[in-house]
Amino acid sequence: MSAGPVAVLITGMGSTTAISVAKALRQQMELPVRLIGTDIHQGWEIAGSTFCDRFHQVPTADDPEYLSTVLGICEQEEIRVLFPIIDAELEVVARGEPRFRERGVLPWIARPETVAACNDKYRTYEFLERNGFPTPRTWLPEQLAGQQDHPGFPLIVKPVDGVSSRDVFYVENELELSAALRKVRSPVVQEYLRGIEYTVDVVTDQESRVLAVVPRERMQVKAGLSYKARTVRQPRLTELAGEIARRLEMRGHCNIQCRIDGEQIRFFEINPRFSGTLPLTVAAGVNSPLILLKLALGIPLERDYFDFEPGVFMARYWEEAFSRPV
Ligand SMILES: Nc1ncnc2c1ncn2[C@@H]1O[C@H](COP(=O)(O)OP(=O)(O)O)[C@@H](O)[C@H]1O
Ligand SMILES: [Mg+2]
Repeated sequence: MSAGPVAVLITGMGSTTAISVAKALRQQMELPVRLIGTDIHQGWEIAGSTFCDRFHQVPTADDPEYLSTVLGICEQEEIRVLFPIIDAELEVVARGEPRFRERGVLPWIARPETVAACNDKYRTYEFLERNGFPTPRTWLPEQLAGQQDHPGFPLIVKPVDGVSSRDVFYVENELELSAALRKVRSPVVQEYLRGIEYTVDVVTDQESRVLAVVPRERMQVKAGLSYKARTVRQPRLTELAGEIARRLEMRGHCNIQCRIDGEQIRFFEINPRFSGTLPLTVAAGVNSPLILLKLALGIPLERDYFDFEPGVFMARYWEEAFSRPV
């Protein structure tokens, strides 16, 4: 293994989440890193490639060549640590984990069964329900048809494998419900949750021990991304989110979404990956990409790497990147 900076591969560099991971590793001065990025677009098309030392275009995750292409990049670039970002890639990387490890690469990803349960909103509901975690009642359309006691309105209709808040419909009556069910491919129907929305970042090690938990209030959301948010101290939420991560045997960074209405916390989504709002977690003192890099390299971490500061407020703005494709 060559000395010098640690080579890290971040996938999906076109996404806010991948850029957030790259920024977190660029702003720390403790560990020199060489950032390699991938995306399904060409480098010049995406702002994220400007954060990378080198960039590679890859096929989509459902392409049979995807895994071998990423494995090839790992060999070529002498990658030590892989951070998969895009939901569609997570399961493929999780199933390919032994092949990465054979090549000396540590992919920070949960087991394939965990990833599959998180990528399917009905299975997520079943997991939460079965394990006694508070969650909104959720139905598949066929279950709703035979339902004696009607769930009542309002309801949410969303794709079972949805991402980025796409095709999420709020429905108030039968007419709107059937229209939404026609629009959404593979829908789930869920009780509508009132209250304030939170995302909880949870960092776990390879043995799924919980190292850090950072709850954030989502104060303004546009197109599935937090534009304004702040870190909060919320002991009950912290305890429950940590327990969910442990039960799912998470490895690395995951984020857990919920709404709190008065005293009532209800979880509705679990993502076994970094969040798009990672910069706030980092600003509040928990640089999880650095933590995971150090863990992967066997570098000891002091306790204060895991403590966060509550009350840190984030307001976002746009930034441009320019390129001159030939
Ligand atoms: N049951 C619900 N009650 C209220 N709002 C919801 C509910 N489900 C989803 N939402 C809203 O829609 C957004 C996207 O839903 P989510 O389940 O997180 O799917 P995605 O994978 O698209 O992020 C959430 O952040 C939340 O604001
Ligand atoms: Mg979500």
